[in-house]
Amino acid sequence: MKIIKKVLRRLYFLYCRAGKTVASCQPGVSLKKGVTFLGLPIITLMADSTLEIGQRTVLVSTSMVADLGVINPVILRTVRPHAHISIGDDAGLTGTVICAAKSVTVGRHCLIGSDVIIADNDFHPVTAPNRRYERDPDRIGAKPVVIGDNVFIGARSVILKGVHIGDNAVIGAGSVVTHDIPANTIAAGNPARVVAGVPPIRSLSMLRDTGMPSFDDLAGLQPIVVASASAASQTTH
Ligand SMILES: CC(C)(COP(=O)(O)OP(=O)(O)OC[C@H]1O[C@@H](n2cnc3c(N)ncnc32)[C@H](O)[C@@H]1OP(=O)(O)O)[C@@H](O)C(=O)NCCC(=O)NCCS
Repeated sequence: MKIIKKVLRRLYFLYCRAGKTVASCQPGVSLKKGVTFLGLPIITLMADSTLEIGQRTVLVSTSMVADLGVINPVILRTVRPHAHISIGDDAGLTGTVICAAKSVTVGRHCLIGSDVIIADNDFHPVTAPNRRYERDPDRIGAKPVVIGDNVFIGARSVILKGVHIGDNAVIGAGSVVTHDIPANTIAAGNPARVVAGVPPIRSLSMLRDTGMPSFDDLAGLQPIVVASASAASQTTH
């Protein structure tokens, strides 16, 4: 029984890690060293468009290792030729959807919460004729989105076309961001407005990163070690 459990766990682990192979098979995809996929993402790129993912970035597509769960896997998609998606080093994305008609740039050390949507275009024209199946890109609004370094975007937020979010900003859960958000601020609501400031950081190197937990820890397959004395005494009795 123990061996069967071990084999099943190993198979599940392999399934969860197959995302990297799925991603790297696609033309236009460039994955830097240490990129980790947990669960299978959906990646579709139009002709001559590109996707770059920076070192040590983690993309979670399975509820098994996402505290809030995910409604959908990570979806990275270009919807027009020559579009570009770039995700910086040390970022974390959980069930995030990024759709680019022009470009979406996510900086280094960004944390993008469960089921966030980032889209640089409206997918359909605002004016009525042929709204459903319009193919003329000039009739469909599209402007690049830029998310700075160390930005934390709360679960289920939507970031719309043309938005620039400054370094170190925090976006509250469930926000709809329609305008630029300055660096070192907290913005929240629909439409997102600045509600507070956050202390700036001198450099990204001051961010403490304890390293990614093992898959078994993330998936709750091993007991997490609790450091406090009272918790430790509870577990030993
Ligand atoms: C953005 C956030 C981190 C700010 O937390 P905080 O610094 O403790 O801020 P506060 O709770 O003091 O809120 C400050 C103000 O913003 C408002 N606010 C905070 N979050 C908001 C949200 N998501 N939507 C609308 N308004 C919000 C508060 O009502 C408060 O307004 P007030 O000053 O008029 O009362 C927190 O509100 C949040 O959204 N957390 C969820 C993060 C998340 O999604 N994590 C999971 C990622 S997988």
